Amino acid sequence: MCGIVGYIGSKQAYPILINGLKRLEYRGYDSAGVALLDDGIKLYKTKGKVADLEEYVKNKDITGTTGIAHTRWATHGEPNNVNAHPHLSESGDIAVIHNGIIENYDILKEKLKKLGIKFVSQTDTEVLVQLIEYVQKMEKVDLVTAVQLALSQVIGAYAIVIISKADPDLLIAARKGSPLVVGIGEDEFFLASDASPIVEYTREVVYLDDEEIAIMRRGEKLQIKTIRNQEKTPFVEKLEMDLNHLEKEGFDHFMLKEIFEQPKSIRDSIRGRLNLNKDRISMAGIIDFEKEFLNAGRITFIAAGTSWHAAKVGEYLIEELVRIPVEVEYASEFRYRNPIIDKTDIVIAVSQSGETADTLAAMQLAKSKGALVYSICNVVGSSIARAADAGSYTHAGPEIGVASTKAFTAQVTVLTLMALGLAQKKGTITKERFDHLVNELDMIPAKVEETLKISEQVKEISKIFTYSRNFLYLGRGYNFPVALEGALKLKEISYIHAEGYPAAEMKHGPIALIDKKMPVVVIAPDSVIYDKVVSNIQEIKARKGKVIAIVTKGDTVVAGLSDYVFEVPHTDELLSPLISVIPLQLLAYYVAVMRDCEIDQPRNLAKSVTVE
Ligand code: AGP
Repeated sequence: MCGIVGYIGSKQAYPILINGLKRLEYRGYDSAGVALLDDGIKLYKTKGKVADLEEYVKNKDITGTTGIAHTRWATHGEPNNVNAHPHLSESGDIAVIHNGIIENYDILKEKLKKLGIKFVSQTDTEVLVQLIEYVQKMEKVDLVTAVQLALSQVIGAYAIVIISKADPDLLIAARKGSPLVVGIGEDEFFLASDASPIVEYTREVVYLDDEEIAIMRRGEKLQIKTIRNQEKTPFVEKLEMDLNHLEKEGFDHFMLKEIFEQPKSIRDSIRGRLNLNKDRISMAGIIDFEKEFLNAGRITFIAAGTSWHAAKVGEYLIEELVRIPVEVEYASEFRYRNPIIDKTDIVIAVSQSGETADTLAAMQLAKSKGALVYSICNVVGSSIARAADAGSYTHAGPEIGVASTKAFTAQVTVLTLMALGLAQKKGTITKERFDHLVNELDMIPAKVEETLKISEQVKEISKIFTYSRNFLYLGRGYNFPVALEGALKLKEISYIHAEGYPAAEMKHGPIALIDKKMPVVVIAPDSVIYDKVVSNIQEIKARKGKVIAIVTKGDTVVAGLSDYVFEVPHTDELLSPLISVIPLQLLAYYVAVMRDCEIDQPRNLAKSVTVE
């Protein structure tokens, strides 16, 4: 949460910083600010979005070849002009931007206040900048040392960038628990929370590790030290990122673009893992730990939100095909409940961003208990990917819309490949079944393409439900997690209350909610429990609920009972989530559009949840 950008070089910093903020706005959009450095520090910040900041700085002096900028997702202190970043030290000589939470900020603040230091904001970040200045003055040390000394007093997570009026040729950055990437150009450095603001200037990047400080001095080479002043050799990596992914390319919103990208992102996630003859699956991360996977006593998934829903599909796939017991845990619960985990366990963290704080902490806990920790992440080089013993990337490409869509289907694709590959190795699947499922998986991108053709029909039906106050989503088996995902999508972007349930659980409570005003979305493709779902629909109709059904093409029974029907192509039940989720993503999108909601940046949310 919060996006941070920095620049030092020979170019004007402002355009680079503002474009960078636009790329990072998915991380938070409560307020935005920039500090530019030449003779002194020019600070501009305002409540609202990056566009508001651009408006605010019109006709102001924005010159400077060094600068830092921030887009905020508020933690400490309400989103207003004062709490917006950057924050200045008391003298106004040092400016800082920060992503993360300083947990002991109140103790530090009290100490500094007793020493006579005045605070203007309610943020934890201001404590940090005041502490750095205080340490520098008291210890009579250079800024890098002051940052090291100050950070050694801090408990919590941070990615910070610092500039000082006293040293306009220096940019300092440090991280612990929150991501930070340094871009290395020709006599210039870029800094950002992820690589998207950097990629158009340079492909050479260094991902900072926890407790590392990057020292970027104009005209000199990048220097990396730890908080304890240990020198480190920068590990320069080459960025592989398609710039087109960062643009809307004619779509009204990133979310819609990303929904329509799914045939490609699923294909990209399969590519290179399924061989040409389609008789073998190889996933690099698993090959290295094949013995551990095949002998695992249990697999535990840890994840949040949409990634948790994908993991739930993974549970069904692995238990059915590989016959290894699987648990799916909310990372936020797992990390605080002393779970029973040992060396025979494999713990798999699933995350689009690779930065979710709870998932990262849960992984660390699992590691400390001796488990093999695997990751399934979308963002290359992210903290979760780097903290794992091994892992597989989903190849969905950057996902900008806060509501996750193509990341979900890419995660389910990778989990399907994983389950099939392990089942083949373990001998828990027949050759016929393996061949059938692999062929079906190979056809999924084309079938998703076909499903997307119902977009206009979904749009029309969305108009009928624009002002509904509640929705129920029901699914069984592999489509129960899809029901949860459909409800989450609607909640997130249209602010309509929605609940996902296993269809048969309805009679244990939610059925009381059903009346003629209640839309019930039932996911009812061909499956072994199709008839049971038909009975569930009868129960809803008997209570006059409005049924919107997702059915397999050619279905007549559910179609005959339902008020509205979205037909999707046939596939094997095990792969059906990859298809049946598409109409639900479109439904959430169009309902939110009709309600005039902020699609890509829904209120109160951020794409990457780097705080607890
Ligand atoms: C999905 O639409 C949400 N924005 C959210 O639930 C998300 O899936 C969750 O925060 C987990 O994020 P991650 O996959 O980046 O770890």
